[in-house]
Amino acid sequence: MRVLFKPYQIKDVVLPNRIVMPAMCQYSATTNGFVQDWHILHYGTRAVGGVGLIILEATAVEKGGRISEHDLGIWDDGHIEGLRKIVQVCHTYGAKVGIQIGHAGRKGCGPERVAPSAVPFSEGGPVPMELTVQEIAETVSLWKEAGRRAREAQFDVLQIHGAHGYLIHEFLSPISNHRTDSYGGSLENRMRFLLEIVEAVRQEWPANKPLSVRLSAVDYLPGGLTIEDTILIAQALKEKGVDLIDVSSGGIGPASIPLAPGYQVKYAEAVKKQVQISTIAVGLITSRELAQEIVFNERADLVALGRELLRNPYWVLHASSHSDKLWPKQYERARTT
Ligand SMILES: Cc1cc2nc3c(=O)[nH]c(=O)nc-3n(C[C@H](O)[C@H](O)[C@H](O)COP(=O)(O)O)c2cc1C
Repeated sequence: MRVLFKPYQIKDVVLPNRIVMPAMCQYSATTNGFVQDWHILHYGTRAVGGVGLIILEATAVEKGGRISEHDLGIWDDGHIEGLRKIVQVCHTYGAKVGIQIGHAGRKGCGPERVAPSAVPFSEGGPVPMELTVQEIAETVSLWKEAGRRAREAQFDVLQIHGAHGYLIHEFLSPISNHRTDSYGGSLENRMRFLLEIVEAVRQEWPANKPLSVRLSAVDYLPGGLTIEDTILIAQALKEKGVDLIDVSSGGIGPASIPLAPGYQVKYAEAVKKQVQISTIAVGLITSRELAQEIVFNERADLVALGRELLRNPYWVLHASSHSDKLWPKQYERARTT
């Protein structure tokens, strides 16, 4: 089991182990996107619980890009202080901290949803407004500013949310992108928006810290993204200075998804092997054996546990019971009976 608990260095950031808490919305911010005590407790508890890398929930680059009215925000300099507090608390207890920055696009909560094309998520659903080229450029600069704020808040890892049917994924997928200009049509055109964001964010995000992108590897829909497309996207991202791909799937439209433990690992493995880039595997990974198998057999570099870490914030401590290193000294007397 030990490889799971070995440190992993990516750029100048050394993660204490290979376990990641993936971004999970808490729907607990104020309606202006500010951090609440809940966030300090929630993320701080996972740091005490030994998680190597905690990635904060989807945090909106603009108010109109929120998934819910209680999303965290990073569209204003006023947000930096609260976010920095989360980072500091988690650092005190040994975890590294990332933040996922995102824009909900046509899956937003406001009345004025935007998207690459005026195509609804599902039949009869709200029709989003198609972004003009000028608006695309303005949106890219919002991500850049969010990257600066993430740097000022002292995060270790920055993750761009390019998955789950939100704005970036909407550009990537032919299901939602029907544009005929330089942002639509070929895969090269559909990934232009994402690559422009990466380029802009890289100018603000320190070169010695990892930049991650979360992708939906497949759309599970005819005519949608395939793993072959995702490998080409990941290759282009690597060339633009992305260090870590978090490999998820689905979300662009209603689809039936075959579920089983580790069901997305094969996609993380394909990206890792074919692009030679670090990956996070995620999705129904709950047992220490499966987590270990994935890392030991080099199918992914890091393993994320989402709902399992909501159920059990001390999963890492239990899984590493052979090692006293991860246990906080305050809990030492409980380590062995
Ligand atoms: C409550 C909840 C909120 C989530 N919010 C986000 C999010 O903000 N960003 C994201 O990329 N994925 C989000 N996800 C997806 C998780 O990061 C993860 O990919 C998914 O739950 C599958 O992993 P699991 O089977 O280990 O839970 C969320 C999942 C849950 C359960």
